[in-house]
Amino acid sequence: MRKPILLSLLAIAFVVAQAQTVPSIVGAGKAIDPYHYTIVKKADYSKASVSSAHPLASQVGAAIMKAGGNAFDAAVATQLALAVVYPAAGNIGGGGFLLARKPNGELIGIDYREAAPEKATRDMYLDKNGNVSPTLSLAGHLASGIPGTVAGLFATMTYAKLPFRQLVQPAIDLAEKGFVITEREASSLNGTREAFLKNSTRPTALVKEGKWKAGDTMVQKELGATLKRMQKDGASGFYGGETAKLIVEEMQRGNGIIGLDDLKNYTAKLRIPLQFEYRGHQVISFAPPSSGGLLIAQMLKMIEKYPVGSYGFQSPKAVQLMIEAERRAYADRAEFMGDPDFFKVPVKTLMSEAYAAERMADYNPDKAGVSSSIKAGQIKESEQTTHLSVMDAAGNMVSVTTTLNGGYGSRTVVGGAGFLMNNEMDDFSAKPGVPNMYGAYGGEANAIVPGKRMLSSMTPTLLLKNNKPYVVVGTPGGTTIPTSVYQAIVNLVDFNMNADDAINKPKFHHQWLPDEVAVERDFNAETKKQLQSMGYKITERGGIGRTEAIRVLSNGKKETVADKRGDDSVAGF
Ligand code: DON
Repeated sequence: MRKPILLSLLAIAFVVAQAQTVPSIVGAGKAIDPYHYTIVKKADYSKASVSSAHPLASQVGAAIMKAGGNAFDAAVATQLALAVVYPAAGNIGGGGFLLARKPNGELIGIDYREAAPEKATRDMYLDKNGNVSPTLSLAGHLASGIPGTVAGLFATMTYAKLPFRQLVQPAIDLAEKGFVITEREASSLNGTREAFLKNSTRPTALVKEGKWKAGDTMVQKELGATLKRMQKDGASGFYGGETAKLIVEEMQRGNGIIGLDDLKNYTAKLRIPLQFEYRGHQVISFAPPSSGGLLIAQMLKMIEKYPVGSYGFQSPKAVQLMIEAERRAYADRAEFMGDPDFFKVPVKTLMSEAYAAERMADYNPDKAGVSSSIKAGQIKESEQTTHLSVMDAAGNMVSVTTTLNGGYGSRTVVGGAGFLMNNEMDDFSAKPGVPNMYGAYGGEANAIVPGKRMLSSMTPTLLLKNNKPYVVVGTPGGTTIPTSVYQAIVNLVDFNMNADDAINKPKFHHQWLPDEVAVERDFNAETKKQLQSMGYKITERGGIGRTEAIRVLSNGKKETVADKRGDDSVAGF
């Protein structure tokens, strides 16, 4: 560990360097100090704000807006900073979804989900006996889909005001000059050390001699150089040239299948956002290949005709109803949802009120449903990810969820390029009837096909009230993502909570299979007992999600909240 005096000298040196070369990250009269920063869980800002998984990344986003950028600029800069300061999930080797609304009402959905490489095959994770390999889709080179994040960032630039070179500079500085890591980051890096060593074929900055400690400075020179190639050459600084060569060489050393053409041909796609009403609010969420928007639409429609608010927050009655909606919607996920460019997803039917009523026809308010008898509906029509919420003074709302899938993705760092590859291939259904790492089932709709995008649960979401910006929300958490967003919306709308309570109160989760309700440890004990007496199997688990939310208050201020479950932090002005 460096001596404090040296640390502060370095901090000064950094500040000076920033002031000379990157005025854009100077916000509120002082530069961002990557050696001294604090976590801010909530604040009301009058103009613009960001909530993300790391204080430095939120500060970068806020400073970019202070320097004249809009919420899109901030979303790009924050994601790039997260790729440096939050390597478990922030990424350039993964993928994500950006959902936004401009002040003129225009909605934007950018799909930069990873895609299966050309050489992928339907049965690539099955052994010679037809059994799913427990590891191949999870760790190492074969687990990665073609990364989409960088294409997504450049697709976002259409809506940005500042040049990309300015937006990427803070991330370059953080990578080259380093930043101090938190206790949580140190212990998570130490816990993954062996996996990094096993799966990466070259030394990586994520592994140091001895153990990481809180207060250590992490420097990532190779990642800095990769970001600089993007600064100089745009998206082809990643999908072509030196970076592409390094990715393909890494793949070849570890029996991976991503090739130069896979990288060259990857594109982000625009998706029309899903929109529906819930109790006088307009909900906007992400379309397939996310299952998230459909799931929250289905669940909210299933409970809308019941007076949930009058039941009381987390009363047995409210929770039981919400669980039964979760069970039914997730059964449909397994059957009907996948990449719409490869499989016809019955979006209209799934979102309809008639279908929601049909699905709830066998709902019994006194008794647990049984997943083995609740199959997907009849339709005739053929734990690492991270979220950031941003709003600016002009009223742009931007909601981004981005992922490597598992913590640190495939744990494979691209040799010489310094970034982690995703293990998103596990989000495909490797074999019908065999669950993936989040316990999600799937079949034809989500089978592996070259070029296809794996089904996601990521649910970046916006809420309008009287057609005016109200809430930006989203979270990581694998299959728990849609249930977290669903509960946040119900907490805000039915239980009139502020954003802080709406995201930080204890949560519960049911996903059809396994037929059990997972609850956080601080979940109401009495409700738990009563649910058990109705026949529910309840399991306790660690935190569900890390939700970041911004809510516009009646005085126009932006209540900006970061989840209590991590180092998540807000910034704004
Ligand atoms: O896209 C998905 O649904 C998953 N890859 C998300 C993974 C995730 O949220 C892990 N976070 N804790």
